[in-house]
Amino acid sequence: MTARLAILASGRGSNLQAILDAITAGTLDAQVIGVFSDRPEAQALQRVPEALRWARTPKTCGGRDAFDAALGDAVAASAPDWIVCAGYMRILSPGFVQRFAGRLLNIHPSLLPRHKGLHTHQRALEAGDAEHGASVHFVTAELDGGPVIAQARVPVLPGDDADALAARVLAVEHPLLLQVLRLAAAGRLAERDGRVYIDAQPVFTPRPLESAPA
Ligand code: GRF
Repeated sequence: MTARLAILASGRGSNLQAILDAITAGTLDAQVIGVFSDRPEAQALQRVPEALRWARTPKTCGGRDAFDAALGDAVAASAPDWIVCAGYMRILSPGFVQRFAGRLLNIHPSLLPRHKGLHTHQRALEAGDAEHGASVHFVTAELDGGPVIAQARVPVLPGDDADALAARVLAVEHPLLLQVLRLAAAGRLAERDGRVYIDAQPVFTPRPLESAPA
């Protein structure tokens, strides 16, 4: 059965585009049934037909709680199997997280638990990390703290600045997210009691990025 994906995005939407391209190429058995944004001007919205776009701001909704409730209602109304935060830059309320627990995924540009939050590339450089990367994890109420499903690593190279490092990480983000979404779409991925399961087997160490073509 084709998986129904709701995508939450605040910005550029290159991860969303990777999802759309994989669906078109027939390498991901899924359908994007809505793109939801807290920024009406987000480029991500332009990547799908108008009928699939939802955008509000906390201001137009009358506050943060009202915004999250409206977002939750809109997401629920689209009847998604999975909700994917792909560059969604707003912290989700505990109520929202609870409502979609077990099927809410996020891609974060660091090797979690290192560098939760913002400016991960700059922070990896400042920390002198030899390696950096991206993680896909289940979302819990703790920011970037949910159980990690899979990770992709890249080297930090001499002369890197934050932009160069971000570009190297982004190149592995797209295949990493697709790898996890293929598992999700095939019904092979689950979370229970803070633990990831793949094919009903507990995952104690995040899966590495597979080298199979995206
Ligand atoms: C990505 O680096 C993602 O990991 C982070 O925000 C960025 C979004 O990029 N959360 P895009 O909007 O998918 O191009």
